[in-house]
Amino acid sequence: MTANGELRSTQWFGATGRTGMAHRSWMRSEGFTPEVFDGRPVIGIATTWSELAPCNVHLQRVAESVKRGVWQAGGFPLEFPAMALGETLLRPTAMLYRNLLAMEAEELMRANPLDGVVLLSGCDKTTPGLLMAAASVDLPALMVTGGPMLNGKYRGTDVGSGTAVWRFEEDLVAGRMTQEECVFAEGCMARSNGHCMTMGTASTMASMAEALGMQLPYSATWPAVDARRYETAQRAGQVIVDLVRQELRPSAIMTRAAFENAIRVNAAIGGSTNAVIHLLALAGRLGVPLSLDDFDVLARDVPTLVNLQPNGQYLMEDFCYAGGLPAVMRELAEAGLLHAEAITVTGSGIGANVADAPCWNREVIKTMGEPLQPAGTGTAVLRGNLAPGGAVIKQSASSAHLLKHRGRALVFDSPADYYAVSNDPELDVDEDTVLVIRYCGPRGYPGMPEVSNVALPRKLLLRGVRDMVRICDGRMSGTAYGTVVLHVAPEAAAGGPLALVRTGDWITLDVPDRTLTLEVSAEELAERRAAWSLPAPHASRGWTRLYCEHVLQADSGADLDFLVGASGHEVPRESH
Ligand code: FES
Repeated sequence: MTANGELRSTQWFGATGRTGMAHRSWMRSEGFTPEVFDGRPVIGIATTWSELAPCNVHLQRVAESVKRGVWQAGGFPLEFPAMALGETLLRPTAMLYRNLLAMEAEELMRANPLDGVVLLSGCDKTTPGLLMAAASVDLPALMVTGGPMLNGKYRGTDVGSGTAVWRFEEDLVAGRMTQEECVFAEGCMARSNGHCMTMGTASTMASMAEALGMQLPYSATWPAVDARRYETAQRAGQVIVDLVRQELRPSAIMTRAAFENAIRVNAAIGGSTNAVIHLLALAGRLGVPLSLDDFDVLARDVPTLVNLQPNGQYLMEDFCYAGGLPAVMRELAEAGLLHAEAITVTGSGIGANVADAPCWNREVIKTMGEPLQPAGTGTAVLRGNLAPGGAVIKQSASSAHLLKHRGRALVFDSPADYYAVSNDPELDVDEDTVLVIRYCGPRGYPGMPEVSNVALPRKLLLRGVRDMVRICDGRMSGTAYGTVVLHVAPEAAAGGPLALVRTGDWITLDVPDRTLTLEVSAEELAERRAAWSLPAPHASRGWTRLYCEHVLQADSGADLDFLVGASGHEVPRESH
């Protein structure tokens, strides 16, 4: 609504004279009848569909179901494309473009005659990107994620997208699998529409959208090809029209309480470390105070309840049939770990939404009394002279024996430098070595790619070693596993202490104590800093230059400094 109580779309379609005629006439070229301009809510459907984003390729079909619901409820739906970010194809990383999607979608929502928006996402960065956009515009908004793929099936076993790739690669290097078997497995792993069906970043962020209250109950888990995904999309179309009429906005839904719920849900589902970065960036758009340490403090009381890869055994399809996210949130609510009153797009508090949620399979969704992993084993936040701004480690994906570890550093300035020698039988490395891979942060790569969990050196794999400590200023795929310290801030390319580590330095990781220590004196580090120089810029023009000049560090969500906050939805001045 505008200040005088009318829908913002009325300023376009309700206008008289030349301006209104232009707005209506060109829309009628699409074949709409004149009644659609009678003052009904205009609902934008932001779709991140693209053949270059396989996880989102079915979103056009989802949009059709949303439209049915909007028409049913008396609204006027208009679908529009927003930048599709396909995790598997985009180089150097889809994360370089999350903020660009957020900026593009924000401007489109504000500049067009929209009263509310439905956000269609799927692949990792599309969910946070669209939520960030909606937060900065603050029009009534509702998300419909595209849903996970069906379970991968390879030679009689379930295989999880992403997670299995790491294992297959190790098996190939170690000679346990042939190249032909790997090619066959490709088709078995990704066998339907949808996003990765492990508890990777896409499933995590879909769950975060539901836990924040921004999508309807069960939306995160219906498989992409399940009829109930399309039923939910149609329902979402009806609900968004109501949200416009009630003026229920993202800022009223995504409150501090909602973020606390999301952080606890992330711990309970064993979610991706990428949620840390995306939730920090989203909170920054909303002005909700949230810090890196909140993730550690809030998650400490929460056990891992969901038995999904990469932490556990099952996949999203199983999670759906077991009861989905509402069954998990009910467990948290009954343990007093959910702010039940936090309002959601249903118009009800999240506690009411999940109060009667059933669980049909306790192998997949565990109880607080008998969890998959005990409380305090989720994502931990580390600090120390190697990460003054903080770093994170996913304990549930780590090896227990490495969570307290002291070893000598073996340092590489890029993953490529490491992989150039990782198969060398003469490489000076053993299972106690701490691999340091740096210049992989937001400015460094650029875009903070998911390269931190580099594969182990071949000589160790052949000896049966399956894990070692790795430290990096980049990210790790939510489908991946290993004892990997991530998101080290400040990053090496910003002059963080990580840039000063030398091969042979001793490093101590103490996760129970939440510390990461480089055993080098302050005086020695000062000398090394004096000899260090800033790396050359990645680009002299375009988005990459803008990004590198303005991106914040990981502990602030890696948003651009000038995109933090909101600009609202005031109707811009006339265009003609
Ligand atoms: Fe799109 Fe995993 S690659 S969700």
